[in-house]
Amino acid sequence: MASRRLTFQFDEQAFLENVWQRRPLLIKDALPNWRSPLTAEELAGLSLEAGTDSRLIGHNDGVWEFNTGPFSSSHFDRSDAWTLLVNGVEQWVPEVAALKDCLRFLPNWRFDDIMVSYAVEGGGVGPHFDRYDVFLLQGSGTRLWRLGEWCDESTPRIDHGGLNLLERFQTAEEYELGPGDVLYVPPGLAHWGIAQSDCLTYSLGFRAPRVVDLMARWVDKALEQMDPEILLEDRSSVERKPRLGEITVEHVENARQAVLNALQALDDGAWLGEVVTESGDHAEPLSPLAKTVCLYPGARLAWESAEESCRVFANGEQHLTRPTLLPALQKLCCGDTLDYADLEQADPDLCAFLVSSGVLVGI
Ligand code: SIN
Ligand code: CO
Repeated sequence: MASRRLTFQFDEQAFLENVWQRRPLLIKDALPNWRSPLTAEELAGLSLEAGTDSRLIGHNDGVWEFNTGPFSSSHFDRSDAWTLLVNGVEQWVPEVAALKDCLRFLPNWRFDDIMVSYAVEGGGVGPHFDRYDVFLLQGSGTRLWRLGEWCDESTPRIDHGGLNLLERFQTAEEYELGPGDVLYVPPGLAHWGIAQSDCLTYSLGFRAPRVVDLMARWVDKALEQMDPEILLEDRSSVERKPRLGEITVEHVENARQAVLNALQALDDGAWLGEVVTESGDHAEPLSPLAKTVCLYPGARLAWESAEESCRVFANGEQHLTRPTLLPALQKLCCGDTLDYADLEQADPDLCAFLVSSGVLVGI
C-alpha cells in the first residue's frame, strides 16, 4: 500500500495570504503522530562522513566555539552546551526527504535543504537572523525559540569564533516547541533557539535568488543577442532644447527607454529558471541498465509552461518540450519514480537532456 504523503495540519491558503515571508507563525502539532526518523546517534554518524556538510557549535560562559566537519566521535565528548548541525540531510535519508511533501504548496524551486540539528540542554547556534524562510520542526525533546527584531545588513553583529551573532537580542515573543510542532520564521527576523533538553530540530529552508543575480543574468542574455552597432537615437531634444553641455532629464529618459525596450524585446524569461536551478548537484552518468528513474537528490529541476510548449530547466540548462510531458516532469519534481523506457518513448530528446544535465538517477 502506498504510504500517505506528509502534510502540515494548517490552512495553506491563509498561510500564503497572511504569513508567508511576512510574519512568524507557530503551528502547534503540525505533524501529529510523526516520529523523528533520525536519532542523535544517526545524525552524529552522518557528520563523520566526508561528503556531508556539518558544523559543531559549543558555548560556555559567553565564549563560543565553532568547527566544521567531518567529525570523529571524540568531538562529541564535551561538557559545554553544544549542538551539531548537518545540512542537506534529505539527500541521505529518504524519510527526511519525505518531509518536503509537507510544503508542496510553496514554489518547489525555492526549496533549499533540510538541516537537522541535535543539541544538548542549553545548546543552540545563538541569536542570529537568516536570509531565507525556515520551518523549524521539532523532532524530539523540547526547544525554546525566542523571536526578536527585524534585521538587515546594518544590524550590529559580532564575530564569535567564526559565528556571526547579533550584538543585541531583545525577545519579542517566545515559544516552547515539542515533537511535531513547527515554528515558521520569515527572512530577516532575529531568532534564538535554546534546547531545554536533548533535542533534534529539522529546519526546512527556502532560499530566494538574489535580485542582483537575476538582473545580471537577464542583462547578460540580452547582451549575447544584442546588435552592438545599434546607436541611441535622439528623440528628446525636440521636447526641450539642451543648453551647451547639458544632458536633460528627457535625454536620460530617452536613453532609459531605449535600454528597457532592448531588454524587453530580447527577453525570453529563461533567466529565472536558469539561475534557480544552476546550483543543483549532478548525478553520476545513468547506467544503461536503469529501468526506473527518479530525481537525483540535490539536483534541481523546474519547468515553465506556455500554450504550445514547456521549457524545462535542469541544473541550470534548458530544453523545450511538449506540454504533454508535464505530468512526467511533475512526478520527477515531487520525488516519484518514472519508467525510463516510457520517458524515452514519450520524448527521447528530453530524456537525453535530463540524463546529460545529471538530474536522473536509476533506482
Ligand atoms: C538550529 O536547528 O539550532 C538552528 C536553526 C536556525 O536557527 O535556523
Ligand atoms: Co536560523
